[in-house]
Amino acid sequence: MPRRSLAPVFLLLGSLALTAACSTGSPPADSAPSPDGPSRTRGNDTGSQADLTKLKGVNIVSDSSTDRSCPWATSYPDVPGAGAITAAMKKDVKVRLAGFLGEDVGGPPSCGGADGSQGPELNVSFSFLVSSGDVLGVRLTTVDRTSNADGTDTRAYWYDGAAKKYRPSFGLIADGSRDAFVSALKKRLEKREGVTPETVDAALNDQENRDAYLDDMAFTADGDLEVDFDRGTVGVPPAGRISVTLPKTTVTPWLSDFGSRAQKQTTDPDDKLDLGATHTPAPTVAAQPDPGEDTTDCSKAKCIALTFDDGPATPETGTLLKYLAQYKARATFFVVGQNVATHPDIVRAEVQSGHEVANHSWNHPVLTNLTSAQIRSQLQRTSAAIKAATGKEPTLFRPPYGAIDGKVRAATSLSPVLWDVDTLDWKFHDPAKVARTVISQAKPNDVVLIHDIHPASVAAVPEVLRTLTARGYHFVTVSHLRATL
Ligand code: NI
Repeated sequence: MPRRSLAPVFLLLGSLALTAACSTGSPPADSAPSPDGPSRTRGNDTGSQADLTKLKGVNIVSDSSTDRSCPWATSYPDVPGAGAITAAMKKDVKVRLAGFLGEDVGGPPSCGGADGSQGPELNVSFSFLVSSGDVLGVRLTTVDRTSNADGTDTRAYWYDGAAKKYRPSFGLIADGSRDAFVSALKKRLEKREGVTPETVDAALNDQENRDAYLDDMAFTADGDLEVDFDRGTVGVPPAGRISVTLPKTTVTPWLSDFGSRAQKQTTDPDDKLDLGATHTPAPTVAAQPDPGEDTTDCSKAKCIALTFDDGPATPETGTLLKYLAQYKARATFFVVGQNVATHPDIVRAEVQSGHEVANHSWNHPVLTNLTSAQIRSQLQRTSAAIKAATGKEPTLFRPPYGAIDGKVRAATSLSPVLWDVDTLDWKFHDPAKVARTVISQAKPNDVVLIHDIHPASVAAVPEVLRTLTARGYHFVTVSHLRATL
């Protein structure tokens, strides 16, 4: 991937609703979408829950820090039968995180040296473009706010279930048609403000570079092909992100066999996704018996609120629900919207098992780095996904990294929840250490931060429940704690 020098672009993280861009005429100075502005759906880019229910056995691979001085969160889907696309995403995410943490150069972390007022941040989020027939398309959006590489980078990954192969975006175009395709693209690009024949030639003439520059291509619902360029790649940086759409009639003759199938599955999707997986894991998450009305009075009894962030995750959340049920313990789940949309059944099981579900944003950005409209969108989209999954709107939210200010508070009516005990489980992945931290630090009425995306964290829970129950603690939801104190 070419190294790019980028300035901040404040994309609505994760929504990927692109502003309308056309192949001719004057583009917007920056095609970064406004969360409240007009949006165009591209294929299944909105990730409707109806579409995502086809994704049986999908696992969202999430990781994050809670370190406010070095905030990072990454996630990508692992779809059964599509190991090659998962491997490609995993590799890219690993490289990006290593770069952000400075591990690639053995030097100080990029996030330690940022001079921007907004602070460093790495966020990789996903959305499904197509999940139909033998075609899977996933877009990863990376926001990297560091002194080295500030900006937004998108990449579309494709999986060809018939050939069982990962296809980069440029693989949508047939080998023999690539020159014709690139020529047509150049003609359209050169009409855009901030783009010159020289800047386009520099990016696209070298055949070796093409895969890297043409790394975000996907079809619109009408079958046109949209090609997205990151800021500063084919034009001058002030021109921002540039999106070019080739009409269906123009692009169709140039498509590869896989490109044709991807186009068809975008415009006219099959009822199901069949990637030829020989084994689809059975659903692992069942609701546990609801312990019933909680009559604990936390002004008299010793209460504790265990909170589990960043999920739902499979199979970890299902395992956790079993542990909690064994002790009739209630907890609060601060869920991430993009995971709720993929696993509404797990969130439903959380509520049915007597737990509280609350909002942890759509894709875990530092909310204080966003505009008010973007903050609203992050929280509203997530609350809507929770409501769709459970029938209930959440009343609480936890800002990722605990990063909150007046702007964030003003953007929502949800009540913020931080924490008293941070297990730092994201760092240590050690069940004994996580259990020890909770048991040694927790005091009556504390809120404890754990992540149910990590197996080691979930594995720590039985010891916490056993020991603290023996010491007379009651495990309550955050709302219950607040209501009875
Ligand atoms: Ni979190």
